[in-house]
Amino acid sequence: PELNTIAKQHRKLYFGTATDNPELNDTAYRAILDDNRMFGQITPANSMKWFATEPSPGEFTFHDGDVIANLAKKNRQLLRGHNCVWHNQLPDWVSTGTFTEKEILAVVERHCETLVRHYRGQVYAWDVINEVFNDDGTFRQDVFFNSSGSKFIPTAFHAARRADPHAKLYANDFNIEGPNAKSAAYQNLIKTLKKEGVPIDGIGFQSHFIVGELPPNIKENMEAFTKLGVEVAVTELDVRMTLPETPELLAQQRKDYETVISVCQAVKGCIGVTVWDFTDKFSWVPGTFAGQGAACPWDENLKEKPGFFGIIDGFN
Ligand code: G3I
Repeated sequence: PELNTIAKQHRKLYFGTATDNPELNDTAYRAILDDNRMFGQITPANSMKWFATEPSPGEFTFHDGDVIANLAKKNRQLLRGHNCVWHNQLPDWVSTGTFTEKEILAVVERHCETLVRHYRGQVYAWDVINEVFNDDGTFRQDVFFNSSGSKFIPTAFHAARRADPHAKLYANDFNIEGPNAKSAAYQNLIKTLKKEGVPIDGIGFQSHFIVGELPPNIKENMEAFTKLGVEVAVTELDVRMTLPETPELLAQQRKDYETVISVCQAVKGCIGVTVWDFTDKFSWVPGTFAGQGAACPWDENLKEKPGFFGIIDGFN
């Protein structure tokens, strides 16, 4: 069974995956990645981030990002751009720099405009801002906020819109999948931006989950966003567990994948689902959470796990 074909069947959803440049040499991996019946969409996990695209002020390097963009084109897959403004994986000149408000807004504007313009016409949707709120709904105190308050947000969206008027422009974050202080902060932000004429089209639910710990009311929360006039995408889905894998954990993981997919399927306005890479071989999880992993629908040997079949059930 091919997941993107199944995703397209009822409501023209897409099913996609993140991928990263070093992985592209793995031929067994590529056989699955390049099949647009399996993945109708890809996202570069790292190569369009700020550290990769503007390592020194005003000097842009698109080589690795272009490799992913060209792959999507060749495979006839949608491309999600990730990302314009994020506190993490910044070059030192941004993360350790000191900026006046005027300076940081000019830096953000130049970065977003140049990045988005470079990929104009190739990107379905951009994560324009990524992870700008803390879990308690206050703004993250990063270099952008500390220098401009929240003014960098409209600047980034306006620059992205000018650079590619047809790309959908998203805010993207984790821990906003259920109703809570952080998802409320995003809903307020979306209302404010819309009132002020700032172009925002979508909200990305990253959806980095833990087996058996999906937040309740994801569907209601998705609907609350769509009522504000934005589309929703599940942008970075994975469901990690404390290792070792057991049949019980894998069975619960299958259910969790099914739940997330079926919610997107049920909510008009949820337009697709992306997993944050599809195989445990290349998952970010073990490198970040010691003792955890096995978060993906394919195992380290590129064999489908129960979660894969949960995805099928969720779409059907
Ligand atoms: O490039 C260096 C390489 O030279 C070095 O040898 C190697 C040794 O550790 O590190 C490489 O850098 C790694 C980088 O990915 C590129 O592969 C970093 O250590 C590693 O921390 C970094 O992880 C990325 C992570 O973002 C950073 O926070 C993951 O691959 C990437 O999947 C992950 O993606 C994020 C999304 O962008 C936003 N949402 C959360 C998601 C998961 O953390």
